[in-house]
Amino acid sequence: MDALIIDGPATLEGTIEISGSKNTALPLLFSSLLFDGEVQFRNVPRLWDIETTLKILESMGAQYIWDKEQGTVAILPLIKTKVAPYEWVRKMRAGVLALGPLLAKYGEARVSLPGGCAIGARPVNFHLDAMRLMGVGIEIEAGYIRAQVNGGLRGTQIEFPQATVTGTENIMMLATRAEGKTIIRNAALEPEVVWLGGVLKDFGVKITGLGTPCIEIEPRPLKRPDRPILVPPDRIEASTLIAAAVAARSSITVKGSDLREIDSVIQAYQKMGVKFKMNTESSTLEVQPPGRLGPVEIETAPFPGFPTDMQAQILTNACMADGTSLIHETIFENRFMHVAELRRLRAKIQVRGNTAIVDGPAKLIGAPIMATDLRASACLLIAGLAAKGQTRVSRIYHLDRGYQRLDEKLKRLGAKITRIAE
Ligand code: EPU
Repeated sequence: MDALIIDGPATLEGTIEISGSKNTALPLLFSSLLFDGEVQFRNVPRLWDIETTLKILESMGAQYIWDKEQGTVAILPLIKTKVAPYEWVRKMRAGVLALGPLLAKYGEARVSLPGGCAIGARPVNFHLDAMRLMGVGIEIEAGYIRAQVNGGLRGTQIEFPQATVTGTENIMMLATRAEGKTIIRNAALEPEVVWLGGVLKDFGVKITGLGTPCIEIEPRPLKRPDRPILVPPDRIEASTLIAAAVAARSSITVKGSDLREIDSVIQAYQKMGVKFKMNTESSTLEVQPPGRLGPVEIETAPFPGFPTDMQAQILTNACMADGTSLIHETIFENRFMHVAELRRLRAKIQVRGNTAIVDGPAKLIGAPIMATDLRASACLLIAGLAAKGQTRVSRIYHLDRGYQRLDEKLKRLGAKITRIAE
């Protein structure tokens, strides 16, 4: 297992390009199960979660070629077993995204129950209830979801009790082969959902309402993909780099992200006094942190609200702000694991229920700390940029699950970071 040693405080300078979006690439790769023949992808980020997804597909019989340098993946979905095994799904909850396309194409699937994770219980009951309404028989057996289409897949009306990103993606993929129209109400509005829907549309499915709470899907046979499917830039990576610039009190330019997708993040940082120079044509964003950072109050929310995947990073910045910040986490019940680690760096944070009360400015001092989940690991790396002295972040594999060598990118901007094996 690797650890990162950060010598702070860091000063950053330069321009950094954003890699492909993890949470868009994952459903896109799983959507290859729907197609006949080879499917190609480009701008695929080099991440552990991508590796895990490809291993799940391979364990079912699919063949793939992943050119990590070029960021291309080609998948030949020659499926022999319709099983997503525990061995892989336990490493990545998004393995549940195999369910929708397997059921759509083959009418059966056995997918390991993802189980809980560091940020909360994260059940998949909304996915399963919606599938049942579409005519899927589901049983939970020895830790697996055993699903079978009984008497044909039915397009129907589904209303999610709470908007769910992967739930909406799973049902959209399932609906591509149902009999009749599927209407999803309280659908997730996230750009990742819109992108997947756009790709399905490009290849023949009739979908309306993407980016609204009501998505309608009319099944159509998918065309054979005649061109590579593009993975767009990662909005959370772009946002994380804003947090890094603010932590290092340095001006950097973030390149490649769709700025509309990170509007809520930009607005939150503007409230803290950060200035931005945006150029939508060149997709560049110059981040200009202020001399004195102001406090902020944010509440995580589904898109277009402030993303839960940026809560840990902005909380870290709040430690450096002049005054008391309030960070409310409304999506996941246990997403403050990073707080205890930040306290080891002398951050002043209390957690009451789903709110973190952050008193700043704290003079962060380096110490050994431990990454607990993906976004928490990014926040600890960012804290290390701000802290005086040496910060050692252990269990950095969480970071590599979802960021394409963030440490290397920050090093290119001037941070002093060493990766060591532990
Ligand atoms: N929920 C249920 N039952 C369900 C589904 C969801 O109770 O069947 C609850 C969840 O527990 C949560 C809320 O509904 O409280 C929303 O969860 P959602 O289903 O939208 O989350 P997800 O699809 O499992 C995706 C991202 C997460 C991101 C969330 C929220 C992927 C692969 N994962 O998860 O990304 O935090 O949406 O935006 O797209 C990350 O990248 O670090 C990450 C955790």
